[in-house]
Amino acid sequence: METIIKRIEKNFNKKELEEAAQILQEGGLVAFPTETVYGLGGNAFDSSASKKIYRAKGRPSDNPLIVHIADIDDMNKVADYIPDAAYQLGKVFWPGPLTMILKKKESVPYETTGGLDTVAIRIPRNEVARELIKMSRTYIAAPSANTSGRPSPTNVGHVIEDLDGKVDMIIDGGKSTIGLESTIIDLTSEKPVILRPGFITKEEIEKIIGPVEELEDKVENEVAKAPGMKYKHYAPKAELVIYDGEQKKIEVAINIVVKEKIRAGKRVGIIATMESKPFYEQGIVKAIGTRADEETIASGLFNILREFDQLDVEYIYSESFNGNKLGHAIMNRMLKAAGYKVIRV
Ligand code: TXA
Ligand code: MG
Repeated sequence: METIIKRIEKNFNKKELEEAAQILQEGGLVAFPTETVYGLGGNAFDSSASKKIYRAKGRPSDNPLIVHIADIDDMNKVADYIPDAAYQLGKVFWPGPLTMILKKKESVPYETTGGLDTVAIRIPRNEVARELIKMSRTYIAAPSANTSGRPSPTNVGHVIEDLDGKVDMIIDGGKSTIGLESTIIDLTSEKPVILRPGFITKEEIEKIIGPVEELEDKVENEVAKAPGMKYKHYAPKAELVIYDGEQKKIEVAINIVVKEKIRAGKRVGIIATMESKPFYEQGIVKAIGTRADEETIASGLFNILREFDQLDVEYIYSESFNGNKLGHAIMNRMLKAAGYKVIRV
């Protein structure tokens, strides 16, 4: 299939999205930018479009898709029995990086929800995404626009790498500003549960709706709460190992292991920060961002994993990023990418 690649600038004219909207109406697939990561969109009410999404990503079909809407008043077009908490959270955090799990309406096909009676819903903040949803005159099922198992895409190059030739159109809307997928909260259980941490934190959510639970980041908890979580995620081609502990000790330990690997003839990468980069002696050293602004670390994570893939390194050693607000979400992704390989120093 020939994939159309279309650049849309910030001050775009709606007309530029007409072709994309039409593709969606006709059951085709369009990858589009959002503030979290790029999404691979199809008509959420069209089961064959959802099937195409799974095929293009190589995604297991029991891993449900997020339905993207453009207006909070449209929640009841895809969900039933909507609790007050959903409206309260939507008013504060939408449009934005929050996904809510609600009971699905009958009209939402099981192909879209991976066979579940619940549906995930989000309103993205990105203007191109929101305008595209409105113009499609339907709602858009969209997982992250990467091949299943690879790091999520935060710029159009990442999407092209994975999906060129497999989808009808890819919209280039520049870099994803946040760079981590949305926070997911399940509102169908007695007590709300955060299934995936993200830019919007537990504390911020609790200020609005009171106490919520959070799935602990443990391998055994991964089994089937958010069905997607049991699958391998974000994995770079290299073996990724995370070092945790005091910063200076981490630098010493990474220098030692890198030296050993290089002596054994291996290609090695290091995930450092602007601050720590000068302290590493060998290997390919990349700064993920600056510790002075953890948002740079969040938005740099998936990109740095893909850069190391392109450099064909065999091992990646990374510092830990347990920052204040976003550390939890960043480490959640890193631990998955590393298959939970952590060395404490
Ligand atoms: O930021 C985001 O959420 C991005 C952009 C494109 O909006 N999308 C995204 O989609 O990250 P995806 O498919 O890569 O991740 C969705 C996650 C999966 O782990 C899936 O299992 C979970 O949400 N999920 C979807 N529907 C669910 C449901 N009904 N119940 C529990 N988990 C659900
Ligand atoms: Mg994904």
